[in-house]
Formats: sequence, C-alpha cells, structure tokens
Amino acid sequence: MKKLLIKVLLLSALFANAQAVVYVYVEDGVELHIDEVTLYSGSPMQELSKDGDLSVLTLSGYVDKNDQSKLYATPNFKLLLATVKNKNLIKVSGEKGLLKVTLSEDNFTDDSEEAWELTSERFYEKCTQCHPAKVVEEHTMLEWEGLYGSMKEFAKPTKEDTTYILRFLRGFAKDGIVKEVE
Ligand code: HEC
Repeated sequence: MKKLLIKVLLLSALFANAQAVVYVYVEDGVELHIDEVTLYSGSPMQELSKDGDLSVLTLSGYVDKNDQSKLYATPNFKLLLATVKNKNLIKVSGEKGLLKVTLSEDNFTDDSEEAWELTSERFYEKCTQCHPAKVVEEHTMLEWEGLYGSMKEFAKPTKEDTTYILRFLRGFAKDGIVKEVE
C-alpha cells in the first residue's frame, strides 16, 4: 500500500485563520450522523473550544441559495462538508455558510491523512488493478465524474466503493481541497 502524505489546501479560503484546524473522522463510511447534522469525512473544521471530551467546532463553506441545508467545500457545490435537517442551523451570509457543531474527540482528528485514509485506500485498492493510479490532481471534479462513469464498466465498483472513491476523487481533484504530497 502506497503511503500517503496529505496536506489540505485552500484552508485560508474557508477559514480566517488556519490555526487549530481538525478534520471529520468517520470510522466506517463517509458520513457521521449527529442529531440533526450529517458531517462528511475529511471535512476541515476549526476548533473553537474544548470542554473535557467535547469540543465546539465550526465548519465554513459554500451554500447554494436554492438549498440552504447543505454546506459545500467549494463553490461548484460538489464536495459536501455537511447537511442539516433544520436549515436554520447553517448561518448564511452571501454565498458562504457557517455551521457550529459539538463533537466528542473520537469524531475528529488533527491528522488529515487519517481523515482521508478510508477513501484513499479504496481508490488505490480498486483503481490500480489494471493500470497505475491516475494522477487525481490532473482532473477537475466534473471531469472525474465523467471518467469515473466510463471506468465503472471496468472496475465494477460496489455502491460503497463508489461512495468512497467519488469522495476521494472530488477531494483530491484539481479544484478540490486536498493535496497529495510524496
Ligand atoms: C478492470 C481493469 C480496470 C480497472 C479496475 C480500472 N481501470 Fe481505468 N482503465 C482501464 C483501461 C483498459 C483503460 C484504457 C482504456 C480506456 O481509456 O478506455 C483505463 C483508463 C483509465 C483512465 C484514462 C481514461 C481517459 O479517457 O483518459 C482513467 C482516468 C481511469 N482509467 C481511471 C480509473 C479509476 C478511477 C478506476 C477505479 C474506479 C479505474 N480506472 C479502474 C482499466 C481499468
């Protein structure tokens, strides 16, 4: 297994200062369900305060004015950070939105590599069987949707594979938020 070293880009676009950035950690799957909120694995958050095992964190992202219950990492509304059942939970200002959550410490990590590990592992497992891993950063999220669609016939992914791999491809795409460094 290729060892990944990952760093997250564009934080300055999402947060005023990049201090104390942590990432949503999901043990199984890509979704973390807490009360009225679903958070997606690897999403960057800023830790505001900590009280014992519980931390108050914020997620900052882009909101589609036609559906204010979803927070996205990028302005193309393709990489989800969070969804909420009650849209008042996301404080919208212009095209940006802010969501405050309280999480216990096993639901986030300060290690971006750990946060993106499940999705990247699945990509390398399923997408290097016939050819070496394609350089994800060479294509945009939109291009990857098309490429993934045509590759499904070859790779025969399960639904779960697709969930993991599409999140990975979008995260690491040219217009994504994560960068792989050797
Ligand atoms: C069963 C074999 C197989 C597996 C598994 C496989 N590929 Fe491919 N892939 C191919 C072949 C064969 C080609 C070259 C022929 C073609 O482009 O249609 C290719 C080409 C590609 C290309 C270049 C296409 C282009 O138009 O430039 C990309 C990108 C790609 N694969 C991505 C993936 C991804 C992502 C996965 C994992 C979901 C994957 N592949 C899994 C066989 C496979």
